Amino acid sequence: MKKDAATIEKIINRLNDLLAAYQVVYFNTRSSHWMIKGENFFELHKVFETAYNDATVKIDDIAERILTLGGIPKMFATDMIKSSVVKEKKVSGDQTECVKGMIEDQEALEVIENEIVKMADDANDVVTADMLTKYLGQQQKTNWMLYQFLKKKSHIEVKS
Ligand SMILES: [Fe+2]
Repeated sequence: MKKDAATIEKIINRLNDLLAAYQVVYFNTRSSHWMIKGENFFELHKVFETAYNDATVKIDDIAERILTLGGIPKMFATDMIKSSVVKEKKVSGDQTECVKGMIEDQEALEVIENEIVKMADDANDVVTADMLTKYLGQQQKTNWMLYQFLKKKSHIEVKS
């Protein structure tokens, strides 16, 4: 890896932004898991459970990548909530709202991840770039599935 301390510092800072956003996504997804109502309850209850379990793994990976790069991960919940681009959602349990909320949260993560991948590529930090590229692939696939779910509800307008 190229020893460009300033670029690595920027990557660490953006990884901390990603960490903060992921923590809030975890809370939002867990709330949807708890609150979901309606005909597809079992299906969506499981989808959100899978998503929040996946988020805990990624939260840990991101924090440990920050440490590996010589940084310190954010530790305070208040700090994470304050700096996260993803905001806490008051979840009603409505299926469309929960699914759209998850898509929206994942797309917000993708924006940060795309930015970090470009920065990491420039710094020859192939490990960070590879890690987040894998996240992007998984999220895009999940979002495709979530959009299909919304399309099934024919009265719902979806963008793809
Ligand atoms: Fe549960």
